[in-house]
Amino acid sequence: MADTVVGATPDPHAPGDDPSRRDFIHIAATAAAVGAVGAFAWPFIDQMNPSGDTLALASLEFDLSKVEPGQQVVVKWRGKPLFVRNRTPAEIIAAVKDDNASLRDPQTDEARHKPGKAQWLVLVGVCTHLGCVPTFGGGDYGGWFCPCHGSHYDKSGRIRKGPAPKNLEVPEYAFLSDSKVKIG
Ligand code: FES
Repeated sequence: MADTVVGATPDPHAPGDDPSRRDFIHIAATAAAVGAVGAFAWPFIDQMNPSGDTLALASLEFDLSKVEPGQQVVVKWRGKPLFVRNRTPAEIIAAVKDDNASLRDPQTDEARHKPGKAQWLVLVGVCTHLGCVPTFGGGDYGGWFCPCHGSHYDKSGRIRKGPAPKNLEVPEYAFLSDSKVKIG
């Protein structure tokens, strides 16, 4: 187990949110690396990237207990940012409601999270257009917005508007317990 620092962004739409806290903040979280890679600070660039072979095998165990409802933590995984979001009930309701919308890359919200774990959304934080990192809380659908060329993703990470062709990718992951996931 190793302490690491990850970025966390509160939901700017959450009730009672203090706008002064909307800036990118850092919280301490605990993650364990399986294999030879761990979670590194994002967006900090580390100088410890393992080889491509190691990256291909790397898995990451992540402790969810420090991620509050309405908060998103960003960890680095296989050289990419990974969004771990603890969705509020309102976010989940909005995402499910949009299952019936006209979707470019049709997928239900249920198909994008683990059974019975609708609050947890785990996404690769890379825009499916040309690879920029979207930010949460912007755009027309209250989810992620990619400022590079204006792609709008909804609260399920589905592409809704702009040039991106696909939804934000859901990586392979599994719950090891109620508060721990293994990614990869
Ligand atoms: Fe995101 Fe182009 S890279 S819209």
